[in-house]
Amino acid sequence: MNSYQGKTFNVVTYGCQMNVHESEKIRGVLSSLGMQEIEDIESADVVVFNTCCIREGAEDRAYNNVMALRPIKEKNPSKIIILCGCMPQQPKGKYKLKERLPFVDIIIGTHNVNQLDQYLLKYAMTKEHIYDIIEKPIGSLDNNNCVRDDKINAYVNIIYGCNKFCTYCIVPYVRGREKSRTPQDIYREVKDLVQNQGYKYITLLGQNVNSYGKDLKEKMSFSELLTYLCQIEGDFKIKFMTSHPMDLGDDLIKVMKQESKVAKALHLPVQSGSSHILEKMNRHYDIKHYMSIIKKLKRAIPNISLSTDIIVGFPGESEKDFNLTLKLLKKVKYDQVFAFMYSKRTGTPAATFDNQIDEKEKNIRLNKLLRLQKLIQKDQIKKYFNKTYDCLIRHINGIAVGITDGGKDIYIPNYKYVNQNYFAKVKVEDIRNHKLSGVIK
Ligand code: 5AD
Ligand code: SF4
Repeated sequence: MNSYQGKTFNVVTYGCQMNVHESEKIRGVLSSLGMQEIEDIESADVVVFNTCCIREGAEDRAYNNVMALRPIKEKNPSKIIILCGCMPQQPKGKYKLKERLPFVDIIIGTHNVNQLDQYLLKYAMTKEHIYDIIEKPIGSLDNNNCVRDDKINAYVNIIYGCNKFCTYCIVPYVRGREKSRTPQDIYREVKDLVQNQGYKYITLLGQNVNSYGKDLKEKMSFSELLTYLCQIEGDFKIKFMTSHPMDLGDDLIKVMKQESKVAKALHLPVQSGSSHILEKMNRHYDIKHYMSIIKKLKRAIPNISLSTDIIVGFPGESEKDFNLTLKLLKKVKYDQVFAFMYSKRTGTPAATFDNQIDEKEKNIRLNKLLRLQKLIQKDQIKKYFNKTYDCLIRHINGIAVGITDGGKDIYIPNYKYVNQNYFAKVKVEDIRNHKLSGVIK
């Protein structure tokens, strides 16, 4: 019995899939203390803000939402507010936050969130604010209880941290160096998710999954890990993110092609279509190399679904550089593009670069790029016609739908009374109003 038994909590998450999954683990920790999750953050006894600092916008959103709780905390001082994750882990982050958010009870970083239960128990005894940011990870939340958001797709961490130091990116500073989980540990978790909990998709997570295993005593490459996990019996598929073009070798393309359990979808951030900008970003590849990977992927896996990340307005990005990015989009024809305006991150090299682009110009470029991508995607729908995709069959509003590895829905109008949550081949036979429909083969 502890003083949190029967109390309520809510976890608010900002940022990437890594954070979404970390919050699932945080919910597991709070549930293990005997607490109940509720939706209303105003009435929850404990509110955790799991923050992101990849761009200024993410920080502003978190900051404003924490501030909005201030009057409630003043009325009800026993409410506990916790801030964790990437924001406080930034160099000098905790001091800025301590001054700006003095009513927050516990501020911890990314490396000690696995001690959250200990911090809460300490707080219950002392009632003293806790500000604790440590520089190196101690343990992890792996293999703890985890309260997952989704019943179909489960996230599984395979590698933490990043050694790449792209010049715009804060991640290596707040998430530390690469640290892989052991293959056995990952295998055990995936097997349990597939065979005992019925998950259909496993999404392996890492800032750079292609670096997997380099730091292990017994080395194992990412493609070897995939092959190993595909030995798990069951009707499931493996997705993964994020891949770095520099580390993506032919071995991975081969495994993606050969293993039916590996989804035919790849998120491969390019960041810019200009080799000159890529060099300034410290990405370690040029467009020629990137395009050679895309070519190989499309040749090996004709139905592959490709997505990417783009940064517009990186310091020194000329009109010519930007146009090269537009040209790249037209050439690759991604199924999805996540585009961002460059955001200056204190402590990263690019923050001190000359020729910072003004916000208005970044905005114009972003909108131009998004408009182009919308047209490309509209046009891309044609490529589905007469092709067969391995799909997860689901029921949506009484109609059977096949969902491709890339997340595209194929309606199966003449096939209403089927089971759901199994994989089957679906052939696209009709495209109307940008909607695909087909039959199970
Ligand atoms: N500004 C804008 N976008 C950024 N990203 C990372 N750092 C920044 C930054 N400082 C983008 C990259 C990365 C994605 C997760 O976020 O495109 O791939
Ligand atoms: Fe950031 Fe680059 Fe690492 Fe991705 S690879 S997390 S963009 S430093």
